[in-house]
Amino acid sequence: MSALFSNYSLLPHNTFGFAARARYAQLIETEQQLLEALVDPRTVDLPRLILGGGSNVVLTRDFDGVVWLIALHGRRLVKEDEHAWWVEAGAGENWHEFVQWTLQQGWPGLENLALIPGKVGAAPIQNIGAYGLEISEHLANVCAIELATGKSHVLDAKDCQFGYRDSFFKQQGRDRFVIASVTFRLPKKWQPRCVYAALANELAKQHIEAPTPQDIFSAVVAVRRVKLPNPRQIGNAGSFFKNPIVERSHFEALIAREPKLVAYLQEDQRVKLAAGWLIEQCAWKGRALGRAGVHAEQALVLTNLGGASGAEILELATAIQDDVEKRFGVRLEPEPLIV
Ligand code: EPU
Repeated sequence: MSALFSNYSLLPHNTFGFAARARYAQLIETEQQLLEALVDPRTVDLPRLILGGGSNVVLTRDFDGVVWLIALHGRRLVKEDEHAWWVEAGAGENWHEFVQWTLQQGWPGLENLALIPGKVGAAPIQNIGAYGLEISEHLANVCAIELATGKSHVLDAKDCQFGYRDSFFKQQGRDRFVIASVTFRLPKKWQPRCVYAALANELAKQHIEAPTPQDIFSAVVAVRRVKLPNPRQIGNAGSFFKNPIVERSHFEALIAREPKLVAYLQEDQRVKLAAGWLIEQCAWKGRALGRAGVHAEQALVLTNLGGASGAEILELATAIQDDVEKRFGVRLEPEPLIV
């Protein structure tokens, strides 16, 4: 059975760098340890928090329960046919290193998602996406253990009910499963995906006309380094808010008043608004409230300027939500899990 740590500091386990503590913490390195932890009499009745890289969580207080630190490792090619490679990774594998490794093996497809912080197991939960690609496009299946029964389930992409930063694991499946591994399907017929303006500009700047997967990987890394703070240097959880999706009529009323509004028409005819732009218009970009800041290069990213608590970040988030709602009639929704 895996060791149980008491009064455990979560500081190194959340990218915001909040100094919250857990009543108990347990490192989960094997599926066997996971199954044992499920029925561990010392913790079975306590609330549980499952942490991967802690890159999408806001710890607003000490956690009076048990935290499972998921460290399920392993990555391998599970299958190959004339059309694709199927590659599996343990939930505890570092996402960026996994992407890098797939490219080194000659299995491209995930390069647009380079440098996203966190672990593989978190990727399907919020359907990570960046620079024109969402993980849902390349996901073959997720192996998840049901907390109530210890039973292992294999969910394919359809079962995962992916949406924009959304999945079954955030809806009906919430708090019911722990992800053990994820398998990706990477088609052999590779095509560069560089429609996203910032990425296309970076490639043009480097005079690359026919990019290889590695070129895209490097360009994505370069763009992210400029816009997004490195969590090792400045605490943050990437985008703090989702880009809100509004009805067409709402968008039309807004654009009539705010002609520079940045918006993207969705397949269902609704319209996604660039939350970073909305926040910038409310003059929050680069500003701070106490020790909680709004990143100067990307207003969607809230930062811990040093020693801030999760509660201070939430105070800033609420002030931003209020201002954006007053001016644009839409309430921004946080992207990370608030604990
Ligand atoms: N914008 C501003 N001011 C800002 C930020 C953005 O005006 O301070 C406007 C710009 O016009 C820009 C547009 O908003 O063209 C979109 O900005 P950006 O390309 O930076 O992307 P985003 O919509 O703000 C999303 C994801 C990011 C992902 C990027 C790139 C969400 C919530 N965020 O940000 O994901 O890296 O696109 O694809 O969808 C994350 O989820 O943690 C994350 C970082």
